[in-house]
Amino acid sequence: MNQNHADPPLAILAELTHRCPLRCPYCSNPTALVGRSGELSTAEWADVFRQAADMGALQVHMSGGEPAARKDLEKLCQAAVDAGLYINLITSGLMIDGARLDRLAAIGVPHVQLSVQGSDAAMCDAVGGYDGAFAIKQDFARAVVARGISLTLNAVLHRANCHQAGDMITMARDLGAARIEVAHTQYYGWGLLNRDGLLPSRDQLDDVTRIVEQARKDSGADLQIDYVVPDYYAETPKACMAGWGRRFLTISPEGKVLPCHAAETVDHLTFDTVRDKTLSEIWYDSPAFNTYRGTDWMPEPCQSCDLKEVDWGGCRCQALALVGDAGATDPVCSKSGQREKLLDALTDAAVSPKAGPDIWTYRQF
Ligand code: FES
Repeated sequence: MNQNHADPPLAILAELTHRCPLRCPYCSNPTALVGRSGELSTAEWADVFRQAADMGALQVHMSGGEPAARKDLEKLCQAAVDAGLYINLITSGLMIDGARLDRLAAIGVPHVQLSVQGSDAAMCDAVGGYDGAFAIKQDFARAVVARGISLTLNAVLHRANCHQAGDMITMARDLGAARIEVAHTQYYGWGLLNRDGLLPSRDQLDDVTRIVEQARKDSGADLQIDYVVPDYYAETPKACMAGWGRRFLTISPEGKVLPCHAAETVDHLTFDTVRDKTLSEIWYDSPAFNTYRGTDWMPEPCQSCDLKEVDWGGCRCQALALVGDAGATDPVCSKSGQREKLLDALTDAAVSPKAGPDIWTYRQF
């Protein structure tokens, strides 16, 4: 069997823009952000959605930045619906008023994923760097549910807000969300830049895990609670993106087609854009997608590991960030010979256990 055979993508992440009213210090966007003038046009995005659907993709995650910073968001959603794609709108909730939400509901946006930065105004507004964000988000969440749109809250945890995990789950239940993703920060982009001020302690992580397990028992089927732990405390790597070039692709605001949102950090790869090639050519034939696709590229001990088609080698961007080689074994893995690089990061964070606006570098252009 050819281990590098590619099936069509299941879903695409459309980063419509890097513009965003929030300035979260863990933003997964690259630290070099793309300005408005470089963004794909309405027609270019519509063509991308048609190409993705023709390839067999089922879903588009409309993301950013803040997707609603695009004045043509409604046109883009209409184009995705016309192409036959299921839309998940990932938003801060700060740029969609009632009238705009009515239009999006009428177009047929079935699902909204709303970011929450804390369980109260003080935390939420401080983390996002936006006064008044908490109150707007609460109203937006209620407005989404009132229109019959399925709501997921995306609660991003780090050292400064871990203690609010239980309250954020309660908030999701009170707002009528169908699901909450309790996700520890992942350390790419701005998150990597601020890692020493964001990594939770082992005790904090264990507390959150206990809270999530108890809340799952208490909530039953009423609220789906997904939980994403920080890789740095894991023994086995996650199957990042379900494997490089296996199920998902990301399109940056200026049209670069990426195997993951952080792929541009792998600077020995060249990423084609939809302005130059078709999505299909890029997905199936580009070196950027084929270099780490499948299992042939894997070094030892991955190559002879029973789990190589389970974790697909973990995360290439993390291997690059921690050991300087995107082709290395993910140092999260207990079999990696370079796991001390990950342990060093935990030690550095423990040495300076401060967190908060005073020490974070906020996202900015
Ligand atoms: Fe790029 Fe994991 S974030 S492979």
